[in-house]
Amino acid sequence: MAKVIDGKAFAAGVRAEVAKHVTELKAKGITPGLAVVLVGEDPASKVYVKNKHASTVEVGMNSFEHRLDAGTSEADLLALIDQLNADPAVHGILVQLPLPGHLNSELVINRIDPAKDVDGFHISNVGLLGTGQKSMVPCTPLGCLMMLRDHHGSLAGLNAVVVGRSNIVGKPMAQLLLGDSCTVTIAHSRTKDLAAVCRGADILVAAVGRPEMITGDFVRPGATVIDVGINRIERDGKGKIVGDVHYESAAAVAGAITPVPGGVGPMTIACLLANTLTACCRANGLAEPKGLTA
Ligand code: GUN
Repeated sequence: MAKVIDGKAFAAGVRAEVAKHVTELKAKGITPGLAVVLVGEDPASKVYVKNKHASTVEVGMNSFEHRLDAGTSEADLLALIDQLNADPAVHGILVQLPLPGHLNSELVINRIDPAKDVDGFHISNVGLLGTGQKSMVPCTPLGCLMMLRDHHGSLAGLNAVVVGRSNIVGKPMAQLLLGDSCTVTIAHSRTKDLAAVCRGADILVAAVGRPEMITGDFVRPGATVIDVGINRIERDGKGKIVGDVHYESAAAVAGAITPVPGGVGPMTIACLLANTLTACCRANGLAEPKGLTA
């Protein structure tokens, strides 16, 4: 049976490390601040924003919440972002996605000062990551990378297959693995003989958004399986959250695996806090915390 990679415990460790650095910064008179912007009433987004606020406060940072109504105009949202960009107490800015349909997400995200773009979604950060330069790295792939480095030590030379090509997870994940000298394949739902491609992986990252699509026959014996999926399904008349990996069959073959829930999920907010800390250190010309960046 595979070793279970405990993302919940790992994330608690990251948050504790962030909190320690925040205490040191406060002694210097600096408090890292994260601004979160939520437009509208999407129930899932409201839960995410609430959790982000609680975690931010818990590590000793300032949390600035901006809740705008669903009908907010693009001009008003851009004006708020300009104001946050100019505010020295704000080191990180996150605009919760998805935005209501009348707002252009790309335009809005690209208005954020790249140095404060703790989601790593601004085109400047995407370009910096793609060319191996210092950037803000998207939180979920950063969390996956931290867990992989912890489990393997060096990733150099390992075959990594990323299933999924989203801008939020798949593409940046592939860049990060390449940066750590993996041989990287990006596969997706249209890949020919996906199972055979996946069986070539020492590291298999599933981020396709299809419940339990990656079964044990996709997994090379001893491989490390990272399941990014969070899918709500109905089973036996009950709601349940499952990943993109069929856990039981994959765990029987893999060397290590992240569960859902309790794997990658908790790492995303922990890495958001790590990115906010990093942004604050950079803004103040201080050394970046070790082990919390790519
Ligand atoms: N909505 C779902 N996940 C995310 C995320 O990582 N960042 C933002 N900004 N919105 C999201």
